[in-house]
Parts: sequence; C-alpha cells; structure tokens
Amino acid sequence: MAQQTISVTPIAGALGAELSGVDLSRPLSDAAIGEIRAALLGHHVIFFRDQHLTPEQHLAFGHRFGELQVHEFVEGLADNEEILEVRKEADETLNFGGGWHTDVSYLERPALGSVLYAHAVPEYGGDTMFANQHLAYETLSDGMKAMLDGMTAVHSARRPYGTNAVRAMYAGPSSMRFNFTAAAHEEVEHPVIRTHVETGRKSLYVNRTFTLRFKDMTEAESAPLLDYLCDHAVRPEFTCRFRWQANSIAFWDNRCVQHNAINDYHGQRRVMHRVTIEGERPV
Ligand code: SIN
Repeated sequence: MAQQTISVTPIAGALGAELSGVDLSRPLSDAAIGEIRAALLGHHVIFFRDQHLTPEQHLAFGHRFGELQVHEFVEGLADNEEILEVRKEADETLNFGGGWHTDVSYLERPALGSVLYAHAVPEYGGDTMFANQHLAYETLSDGMKAMLDGMTAVHSARRPYGTNAVRAMYAGPSSMRFNFTAAAHEEVEHPVIRTHVETGRKSLYVNRTFTLRFKDMTEAESAPLLDYLCDHAVRPEFTCRFRWQANSIAFWDNRCVQHNAINDYHGQRRVMHRVTIEGERPV
C-alpha cells in the first residue's frame, strides 16, 4: 500500500473541508482511513475531487467505516443493491434529497454517514448544501437547551415514501424506482438532542423531512417549536455549499449534519451514486 499524504482544506467557516492527496480507488492503509475519519469528525463533511471508482471500490471505501445499508423504499442498482442511484434526467422535475434532512432518521439505527459519488453533473446548478447541527445546538439559549435536553421526537418515512407521498401522486417521468408503502408510516423515537458517540459533542437532531412531532404531543402542538428548530438548524452561517464536478465525492456525518440537494437544474441531467453507512441508535 502506497504512503498517503492527505491535505485538508476547509471550504467554509461552519463545516466542510476538501481532502487531497488520496486515491480512494486503492486499498487504503489503516493510517489513511484514520486520517479520513479524523477529518470527517473535525469538519463533519469532507470532499474529494477527481476520484475514479468502480461500484465495488465505492462499496469497499464505504465499508471501511461500517456496515452498509440497503434503502427500504428506493431501489438500488440491480447488481449492487447497497448503491442508491440518485438520478434526475433532463425531462424530470422532482429531485431526490431536495429538502433539509439527515439520511434515514426514521430508522432505529440511522446512517452514520453517506458517501455520494458524482457520475454526471449539470453544467451549472445541482449543488448540495450542508448544515452543522453542533452549531445549531450550541447557539440555542441555555433555557431552550435545558428544555430540549429531556425531549424526544418522533420520526417516520411517511412524508417522502408513505402511501400519500407527493411523489406517489406525481404522474411525470421518474428514472428512480420508489416503493410507496404503509411500512413507511412506522414511527421511531429519537432524542431531540443527540450526543456524538465519537466526539461527545451534542447536536440538534430534528429535520423537516422525517421528524413528525414531539413525543406525547400532536403534530399541531409540536409545529411551532419544531418549525422554529428546523429553521434555526439551517441558518446560513451554519452551512456550506458544495459545487460538484464529475468524479467528486462528498462524505458527510449524518449524526451531526443535515443536507439539501438543490433542485435548480431542470433540463439537465445529474447522476450520483450513494453508499450509506449504518450508524448506532442515537443517544
Ligand atoms: C441525498 O440526499 O442523499 C442526495 C444528495 C444529493 O444528491 O446531493
């Protein structure tokens, strides 16, 4: 295995760093994986340019960080179901991942991280935004922190993948295959404030896509506080924005980052492959 010298260049004040000097298609030493993990923990989302990975190499890289998840409601690649193809063709209007969220927070064990690899990108547009949820927590008042610390939120996949999902009613073209099902209405509970198991830092853990309400409250009762928190969580000063090129990779830590795929490239094609790494039950 070749010796790697990885350099890390932050791209914004809140989070995000570009890493160079590493070829992710090659078997990486434990030391190189350690450097990448340290960059992820320090910057929360990390980016790589000019990577040339086969699907197997993409899976192998993700696997160095944990078990890989198969998406329950979106069909993966026929020969590699752990790879989710995020595709929008020029004649489509709905994108995947448009709206702030952390991946699969409706699962008991949501994703640790996601590794998204760009195959085809629009000439302009199609950027992804990321928001640092440690900063979202740390900038709340002491009174709000104390109240939220004991609270639990209810998450589900109902809105994007339930039987009444907007996309389920949509008659236009869709190159991704979804499974809209009653199973998406199942609910799980997670703490509103979670503690990162590797860094011990607290973060806000609610999002507009999957968080329905607070435990023991109705959706209507929860809405004012939940709306406030979801707006606060993505204040511009907590974010960074990544401009994709073909063969770029973004690797984000879903335990402390929300992201939003911006749908501003109608008439152009965008194809990405995502590998999702299983995490632990939030605490
Ligand atoms: C996602 O939410 O995983 C998709 C992000 C993107 O396509 O930029």
